[in-house]
Amino acid sequence: MGKRILITGGAGYIGSHTAVELQNAGYEVVIVDNLSNSNENVIDGITRITGIRPAFEKLDCNDKEGMRAVFAKYPGIEGIIHFAASKAVGESVQKPLLYYRNNLVSLMNLLELMPEFDVKGIVFSSSCTVYGQPDILPVDESAPIKPALSPYGNTKQICEEIVRDTIHAGAPFRAILLRYFNPIGAHPSAEIGELPLGVPQNLIPYLTQTAIGIRQELSVFGNDYNTPDGSCIRDYINVVDLAKAHVIAMGRMIEKKSENNIETFNLGTGRGVSVLELINSFERATGVKVPHKIVGRREGDIEQVWANPEYANNVLGWKAVETLDDTLASAWKWQVRLREKGIM
Ligand code: UFG
Repeated sequence: MGKRILITGGAGYIGSHTAVELQNAGYEVVIVDNLSNSNENVIDGITRITGIRPAFEKLDCNDKEGMRAVFAKYPGIEGIIHFAASKAVGESVQKPLLYYRNNLVSLMNLLELMPEFDVKGIVFSSSCTVYGQPDILPVDESAPIKPALSPYGNTKQICEEIVRDTIHAGAPFRAILLRYFNPIGAHPSAEIGELPLGVPQNLIPYLTQTAIGIRQELSVFGNDYNTPDGSCIRDYINVVDLAKAHVIAMGRMIEKKSENNIETFNLGTGRGVSVLELINSFERATGVKVPHKIVGRREGDIEQVWANPEYANNVLGWKAVETLDDTLASAWKWQVRLREKGIM
């Protein structure tokens, strides 16, 4: 039996891809997910890819007694990857308390339970959103944290501080904060992928839904930014590459390979791509046209941000390797699979 790892939010987009990579690396995975933004079928997808069915408990991480029972039911959990969180920027502005409660309390529950069950470490899902609009690009981990533009963004900043303060206070475990840039794409098997409920807010699901005819037209939010083609620039990272970084981070943490009890890594490609470039790349990679129009800017959008991933490359020993075209092709294959299955 491999080492046992708890993945909260393991039925979600990044969580499910990470469950696959952890199982492929020989870990035993326990998934806790309240299915608030995911579906139990995802567990079947993970099983079809890996040949192993991960343990699954439908539970909200805010339920501390429920979580205690999970640790008791699955003894010897060595590490946690904490994905479970509410993540819609716009909704967080409407429902701040929901976001603060969901995102902060679930983390605090885990940090309090870890010593009780001798858990060695926790990987926390953070975001490049903590940098706001960086003054220097590409942005590295030493860049200042900028005031958050939404309650969602604020929860990521506060959660980072909660973890940092807990470690500095002498908690008997380690932590790694992973700052994701923009994860996109799907597993190459198209057994799992991103499955947003309702109208997608993020670029790629809106783009693929437009390409397949569910949406009429993709709106490009602004072409008057101070960028070469006027549209916003992001660092789009393949979700499987991202998932693999979690496997490396987990090994590093529970095998105590670092001198530090807490570490922070940017997870990006180091390549900035504009919205218009992304649409072109998708059309080239798939041969499918994406009807689109330029509209006004979206409130709260950062003009441009991409990672300096050198610290993760050199210290973690991880590098994003998938090409943008292959990644976009995987997103399209997933969208087509959803159509074949009659899901969308
Ligand atoms: N965009 C469009 N049209 C759309 C959707 C998005 O042009 O229909 C553009 C956005 O303006 C942005 C880019 O595509 O320039 C990427 O937008 P996403 O919504 O996919 O991603 P964001 O970079 O805005 O959001 C990400 C994460 C959030 C995080 C946020 C903080 O998805 O979780 O970064 O900046 F909070």
